[in-house]
Amino acid sequence: MTEKTFFMIKPDGVERRLIGEIIHLIERRGFTIERLELRMATEDILRQHYSHLVDKPFFGDILGYMLSGPVLIGVISGPKVVKSWRIMMGATNPVDAVPGSIRGDFAMGPVDGNIKNVVHGSDSKEAAQREIALWFGQSNN
Ligand code: CDP
Ligand code: MG
Repeated sequence: MTEKTFFMIKPDGVERRLIGEIIHLIERRGFTIERLELRMATEDILRQHYSHLVDKPFFGDILGYMLSGPVLIGVISGPKVVKSWRIMMGATNPVDAVPGSIRGDFAMGPVDGNIKNVVHGSDSKEAAQREIALWFGQSNN
């Protein structure tokens, strides 16, 4: 069964001109791009998107990072795309991300304790639905 996930190239990835390489990996894997948009995030949307982290002491750093420049947001579809895109991204902390994964190959962090890890992907089908609705509107699920 084909499923959808929400993904993002974070401000460090956009600034470092990694959009093309990352989109190439998505296409090479055989996933279909359903939506794609470059835009600035907002504090309001990030508080909802990262609702599981708003109470952490480092949430201010996350806001500063995620608002430091435009993000590329998108929806991709394909078989098991939620899990598959998470595997392609690699572990949250670039130090733990295996070579060959996007974070393992491209991420620089942690810099000053702030994890800059280039990409985001929904961690479950439920999160994917929620995040697609949050960023693109309810009718896009
Ligand atoms: O992005 P992922 O789903 O792998 O991890 P998360 O636990 O949902 O955290 C979301 C994002 O918050 C991470 O990708 C990091 O950018 C940031 N974060 C951080 O800066 N420091 C942490 N200790 C945990 C998360
Ligand atoms: Mg997450």
